[in-house]
Amino acid sequence: MRISVIGGTGDLGSALAARLAAVGHEIWIGSRDPAKAEAFVKTVEHGGTGRLFGAGLADAAGRCDVCFLTVPYEAHARTLEQIREAVQGKIVVDATVPLKPPKVGTVQLPAAGSAVMEARQLLGEGVRIVSALQNIGAEKLGADTTPDAEVLVAGDDAASVEVVRELLAELGFKSWHVGPLPNSAAAEALTSVLIQLNRRYKLGQAGIRITGGVKKKPALQVFPVEGLPMLAPGDDLAAAIAGALDQSGVKLEAGDVVVTAQKAVSKVEGRFARLAEVAPSAAAREAAAKSGKPAAVAELILSEAREVMRVADNLIIVRNRSGQVLANAGIDASNVAPGNGDDDEQVLLWPQDPNESARRLRAALEAHAGVKLAVIVSDSLGRAWRMGTTGSAIGAAGIRPIRDRRGEKDLFGRELKATVIGVADEIAAAASLVMGEADEGVPAAVIRGAVYEASDQADISELIRPLDQDLFR
Ligand SMILES: NC(=O)c1ccc[n+]([C@@H]2O[C@H](COP(=O)([O-])OP(=O)(O)OC[C@H]3O[C@@H](n4cnc5c(N)ncnc54)[C@H](OP(=O)(O)O)[C@@H]3O)[C@@H](O)[C@H]2O)c1
Repeated sequence: MRISVIGGTGDLGSALAARLAAVGHEIWIGSRDPAKAEAFVKTVEHGGTGRLFGAGLADAAGRCDVCFLTVPYEAHARTLEQIREAVQGKIVVDATVPLKPPKVGTVQLPAAGSAVMEARQLLGEGVRIVSALQNIGAEKLGADTTPDAEVLVAGDDAASVEVVRELLAELGFKSWHVGPLPNSAAAEALTSVLIQLNRRYKLGQAGIRITGGVKKKPALQVFPVEGLPMLAPGDDLAAAIAGALDQSGVKLEAGDVVVTAQKAVSKVEGRFARLAEVAPSAAAREAAAKSGKPAAVAELILSEAREVMRVADNLIIVRNRSGQVLANAGIDASNVAPGNGDDDEQVLLWPQDPNESARRLRAALEAHAGVKLAVIVSDSLGRAWRMGTTGSAIGAAGIRPIRDRRGEKDLFGRELKATVIGVADEIAAAASLVMGEADEGVPAAVIRGAVYEASDQADISELIRPLDQDLFR
């Protein structure tokens, strides 16, 4: 779009012109002195695709579809007279605040009600006038960031208001149509209030934001715990998680579930094994020959297993010492720093007791946050009859891992007879959506709003189907 900024050599206008050019618009800066404007546009840096041109006031205004007016109030009427003919039929966006120095911190609206009502009188009915931007500081507009302030837009012609609001949205501003042009008086007056606030509270450039009624909390929230350092044996995982949460401004609330990747827990617990140091047994060599896995890895898998369920190509499925059925006893080398050559290869085992790991983490995180929490240690497990892994709970504290809904009523009042939900797995799966599997580097997440039964005694054993109920053996 072709846009003129009358007064674009000044503080507000130049910031506006640069921002509009950055999103690709053609900008004509109008000045009392065309040569000044032409020289000025060469100095504007914006990093976008839009081009800038300099011209006299009427010349710039006449070339464009939308004309922003950003001159001091003392120059307002004079400037409007100069562009009146050129802007007939066009949209004029007036940002003028009727400030009368030196008392700029005191509201002094003109007799017509506001600067923009004076503009309407001066320009006549043929111009579509919109009022905007009085409450956005030039510095804020010029900054290379999403502005943390909103814009009040007044105007009688809804279509023109929408054109202006779309332009503002392109610049990253949320804006509000606050009603007909006379309502601009409130925005114009507000500037003196913001100037007072800047002075009294050293706010830099105060802005406004419109709030609604009580915001409904989302039913479920998932916060990734980002910025954790590389973990090593002996590190304090709870302190690392608490520190990262503090950094990202997430304050743990009562009932939150902190889900931690098994890898992070295993690393701080030093569950590394050097393959060169493992002496494979005969059984391990046999499983290795059948599966194609290195014998040392097969040995480690068997050492974690209570029972070997299946051996297949590159796969040894076991029931581990806590009764969990999983591939390769959860041992792998992904996200483990490589060693110094083949002989030095390291793998990572599951924590010795994932429930105990969860209990320790819970106690430390609760001490930090001062609220009751639950902790789940999770890993990505395959499902026997479905493709793809999902985040699953392998250790838990503070939460009953199943939610027994038997006895509750369905929508039609019928009693639920068999509904038992593996809520700890569901929470682990939700967390895994933000934790990732590869190089995301997010080894923990906080789940807020999940419905579960808190328990100081329960652990993951409730989630494991007793052998006598296993119909596939
Ligand atoms: N600065 C802000 O943070 C801010 C925020 C919101 C709203 N506003 C409003 O936006 C308008 C512009 O503010 P600003 O701070 O950008 O003003 P400014 O820098 O003082 O002036 C803007 C331009 O207006 C022209 N001008 C200045 N004095 C003039 C005069 N006596 N007669 C004719 N033209 C004159 C000049 O352009 P040429 O010499 O090239 O003609 C100047 O570069 C004001 O109404 C202000 O209240 C400002």
